[in-house]
Amino acid sequence: MFSQPRFMMLTSVVRCARAGVRSLSTSSALSSDKLFVHRDSEKNNLDIKFEFSAENLKRAKAIIAVYPEGHSNAALLPLLDLAQRQAGWLPISAMNYVAEYLGMPRIRVYEVATFYTMYNREPVGKFHIQICTTTPCMLRGAEDVQAHIEKKLAIKNGETTKDGLFTLSVVECLGACVNAPMLQINDDYYEDLTNKDVDHILDELKAGKKPKIGPYNGRKAGEPAGGLTCLTEPPKGPGFKVQSGL
Ligand code: FES
Repeated sequence: MFSQPRFMMLTSVVRCARAGVRSLSTSSALSSDKLFVHRDSEKNNLDIKFEFSAENLKRAKAIIAVYPEGHSNAALLPLLDLAQRQAGWLPISAMNYVAEYLGMPRIRVYEVATFYTMYNREPVGKFHIQICTTTPCMLRGAEDVQAHIEKKLAIKNGETTKDGLFTLSVVECLGACVNAPMLQINDDYYEDLTNKDVDHILDELKAGKKPKIGPYNGRKAGEPAGGLTCLTEPPKGPGFKVQSGL
């Protein structure tokens, strides 16, 4: 069974694909439909052509070669990612191009691209800030960090700064709960953050520098913040606890 929004997305896209129209849109505008509805805009319509660059065509061939013969459709996710990296986001022309490249019906591509929120079907800034506010991050102050970013950049969730540098997205768990609160900015994770750390990171990015990635509280990774609680002795030598006769 599909949930209602998912069902609406499918019926909407199927209806429009069948009609062969340029605009994939529902008749009723829902405020929460951005994830699953395409509406033609100046920046996102079929008149804007997309094709892989020569370099990305080589990459696409290499990606497809990873999969067994006859299963090139399995390369859909990485190819959409490749298209997004080339365009900076995933316009409808890029989705259609990938569908054609893989010989798949467009609807199959739309289903995937609208399901995974890592595909940005709206333009995003040069730095896409994704802040996790799921429970562990929330308990460690993610909502304060979000409010701090919103105030500093004068944008809300889903918005981009006027200079096109930063887009803010609130997302669910990014798998770095042990280093909460954390941000993902483009491909990098910034962890164990305070508002001061966030200021430093955003200021560095704005200045064209590359801020340190990973934890900001002195940890190397996800080890206990108060020091090791186990494995505190040097490892035992060979033969430890083995019978003397062996
Ligand atoms: S809850 Fe934030 S990374 Fe998992």
